[in-house]
Amino acid sequence: MTDALGIPDQIDGGTVCLRPITLRDRPLIYRWLNNPVVMAFWEGTDRPLSKVKSEGWVKRFVSDDASLECLIIETVGRPIGFIELSLYPKSEGYGHLVEIDICIGETSDWERGYGSAALSALLHWLFTSTNTHRAFLQPLAANERAVHVYEKVGFYKEGVLKQAEYHHGEYQDIVMMAAIRNQWLAEFSMKFKDA
Ligand SMILES: CC(C)(COP(=O)(O)OP(=O)(O)OC[C@H]1O[C@@H](n2cnc3c(N)ncnc32)[C@H](O)[C@@H]1OP(=O)(O)O)[C@@H](O)C(=O)NCCC(=O)NCCS
Repeated sequence: MTDALGIPDQIDGGTVCLRPITLRDRPLIYRWLNNPVVMAFWEGTDRPLSKVKSEGWVKRFVSDDASLECLIIETVGRPIGFIELSLYPKSEGYGHLVEIDICIGETSDWERGYGSAALSALLHWLFTSTNTHRAFLQPLAANERAVHVYEKVGFYKEGVLKQAEYHHGEYQDIVMMAAIRNQWLAEFSMKFKDA
């Protein structure tokens, strides 16, 4: 399989580690993305994931498409969530622009520092071990916990896209947030080492 980022078997993040998704993870994805508490912050409670669709969902990431990756977040060998990575451009011509989506699917593991640890480890790996220039996220402005976590680990707010996502029956604002390689390495890589 061609792998543009060269994802290793494991990325160590202290309290968490990240590993590539496999087809065996499908039941987990199905359970997480059908939990209404999770869905409220993800696709919305009105967009459940069928069993058939969950298979396609996982297969996208284990296929040969090097522009899509998914990492399972584990803590002490227990899977608790996932991170999706989408690479732009698809060519190898210059540094990658990487869009990130994160979901801690086990709600009892929210607010234990795992999301922050997983994103810090991911950014450190992207900026020290791959040719990534810019990593970005597009959370709903109303998802204040997510926005807080993203700022804490080194993403900066770049602007607001007004009513850019239809979620729960209404158009909602999205915050554009990004971490740029040199700036993050100067300001955040030491914090990562100290953590
Ligand atoms: C958003 C998410 C990834 C964060 O991961 P997490 O492991 O729960 O977060 P952490 O424990 O690392 O950090 C939580 C932080 O948010 C803060 N927080 C909690 N609720 C908050 C709120 N309503 N507003 C602002 N900050 C909030 C906590 O105080 C803590 O900050 P601190 O470390 O500075 O004290 C996780 O909760 C999740 O997956 N949620 C459901 C799906 C989702 O929202 N995905 C993001 C889509 S853009």
